[in-house]
Amino acid sequence: MKTGKILVLNGPNLNMVGVREPAVYGNKNLESINSTVYSYAAGMKINCEFFQTNCEGELIDKIHSVYKEYDGCIINAGALTHYSYAVRDAIAAVDKPFIEVHLSNVDAREDFRKVSVIGPVCVGSISGFGVNSYLLAVNAMRDLI
Ligand code: DQA
Repeated sequence: MKTGKILVLNGPNLNMVGVREPAVYGNKNLESINSTVYSYAAGMKINCEFFQTNCEGELIDKIHSVYKEYDGCIINAGALTHYSYAVRDAIAAVDKPFIEVHLSNVDAREDFRKVSVIGPVCVGSISGFGVNSYLLAVNAMRDLI
């Protein structure tokens, strides 16, 4: 079985999941989501590390760290997904697989959420399955690392 180390990155406002718009993002907090993802990935011999930030620059620094420290990255960039060319360029700069995830179905929401500027530089995107979006991404990552 393959082994590997991946980074699960969450951007702005994802620290508020659980209390933030529960009808959209569910009742689980980020700690509980991360723990579910950690166990699921461990079952596939994938070691997950987690990082959340509300700062665009910190998110970019962490994306850069994937180059040397990780085999791949699952990223929920929050609203930065929809407009941050800086996050897009950071992902493009790192020659490792990135998978875009969203808890909510961004295509079924406001028009501004239907645009992802990071999607084209990720291997693929998974949206709308709550915590399962992350688990599906781990499953896909298994074949990429
Ligand atoms: C989100 C969707 C984004 O549009 C939003 O800005 C978020 C969360 C999601 O996980 O559904 O912060 O990325």
